[in-house]
Amino acid sequence: MNSEEERLQPFEKRILCIGAGYVGGPTMAVIALKCPTYKVTVVDINARRIEQWNSPQLPIFEPGLDEVVQKARGRNLFFSTDVAAGIREADIIFVSVNTPTKSFGLGAGAAADLQYWEKTAQQIIDHSDGAKIIVEKSTVPVKTAEAMQRILSSNQKGIHFEVVSNPEFLAEGTAVQDLLEPDRVLIGSLPTETGKTAAAAIVGIYAHWIPRERILTTSLWSSELSKLVANAFLAQRISSINSLSALCEETQADVTEIATAIGADSRIGSKFLNASIGFGGSCFKKDINNLVYIARSYNLQETADYWEMVLKINDFQSRRFVGKVIRQLFNTLVGKRIVLFGFAFKANTGDTRESPAISVTRQLLEERARVVISDPQALDNARLDLADVENQVEFEPDPYRAAAGARALLVLTEWDLYRKLDYQLIFQGMEKPAFIFDGRNILDHARLHEIGFHVFPIGKPALTHY
Ligand code: NAD
Ligand code: UGA
Repeated sequence: MNSEEERLQPFEKRILCIGAGYVGGPTMAVIALKCPTYKVTVVDINARRIEQWNSPQLPIFEPGLDEVVQKARGRNLFFSTDVAAGIREADIIFVSVNTPTKSFGLGAGAAADLQYWEKTAQQIIDHSDGAKIIVEKSTVPVKTAEAMQRILSSNQKGIHFEVVSNPEFLAEGTAVQDLLEPDRVLIGSLPTETGKTAAAAIVGIYAHWIPRERILTTSLWSSELSKLVANAFLAQRISSINSLSALCEETQADVTEIATAIGADSRIGSKFLNASIGFGGSCFKKDINNLVYIARSYNLQETADYWEMVLKINDFQSRRFVGKVIRQLFNTLVGKRIVLFGFAFKANTGDTRESPAISVTRQLLEERARVVISDPQALDNARLDLADVENQVEFEPDPYRAAAGARALLVLTEWDLYRKLDYQLIFQGMEKPAFIFDGRNILDHARLHEIGFHVFPIGKPALTHY
């Protein structure tokens, strides 16, 4: 046995993941934890990110992730920048690179930008010397596997690559929990013998900890499209309730009561009905744009228009929120200290991609407000998002210091921390009249009103002292 064979010997299978981001890192950490006989390597071209994955300070904040990484790292979980070596030794390659919205050329602003995807395919061809299963983990347009299969089949070495789709449904902030106990795992493959064998190998990974009946196997195309459709449906629920929150504010109805009333119908279900300033995150907008683009490319204008409305309502909701702030603060924000409680796109993450807080901040700055941003995890990312206007914004991690001298507090992220603050103390330090705009409906509005605030929730009657 040569030294290379010896090195590979102890592991039953070798899995590689290309892309050590929010999906690749946690997903592979959980696979390594649950499959101790598999060697799991995660590679990335971003050396800084890999350095962080190998350090005590992981590059992303996810509850429970530290423990999982600590248990598996160095045992059967490895992070590396050596993409070539990783490809060479792997039996199964997950591709979890970013697939952002295209910002140039044909389909700009709507289609998926597959440049990272195609580069990865080329790298796989260049460094492979044997058959491999290639797993689409990134969210991709339906039919991407066909293109991937064609590129990979063009290799001159006679190597067979089998492309399988295995989209990821984890949500940030609950990634570890979602990976440990997913509602379902989806695996799509071609109906050929090699396709079925490859799908079985991927089923074999997840079957280490997930009941077999929750592992769904479908055609490649259903699997790819299901991912876009799942995100579109989730986002649609938020836009549906948000569109009605506007009507509630006009009619004195309460959107939370409505959500409870309709959510009690088991056909509707109670989840994802929290009215808000709008959804953010790296995927909902990009995936719906992508779905709309695909529908238009097949000349299905009505299908495209239907889903596009979900995005239009989302924009409407954040503009409506800022409009209300301006109106209630007597139609001028000039020189007023306005504090954002929360900048992350949701609680329990430091991620700010597409966070509604970004557009809210920019709208407030246009009104010449003095904007102060507070967040327990997202201030570094907030600084990057607002780099061009950084000197016009104050960043203050301590919510009490942030609120001192403020005219209005805007709750933009549903961090638990904001429920527990001493609002009596905060009120005393604010300019009067003092306002709270609860963009997440997480605070005790009656109590805040009692303290003396003018309170403006989403989709509920305002509590004022006029
Ligand atoms: P991310 O930007 O956090 O990570 C992608 C990583 O891929 C980056 O670190 C980048 O440097 C690396 N990369 C790009 N090209 C590479 C190459 N050629 N070789 C090696 N590394 C390369 O993205 P993410 O949030 O992890 O999302 C990845 C995919 O998963 C996207 O398609 C996204 O739509 C999908 N997804 C994301 C989530 C989520 O919650 N973030 C959930 C489900 C699905
Ligand atoms: C979402 C999906 O939930 C995941 O299943 C999917 O894998 C992922 O996108 C993806 O493909 O990237 P994520 O964006 O991490 O996950 O977070 P969500 O919990 O879905 O929240 C998205 C946004 O909607 C947040 O801004 C959140 O605050 C908002 N939201 C959520 C509401 O405004 N109201 C709700 O009732 C629920």
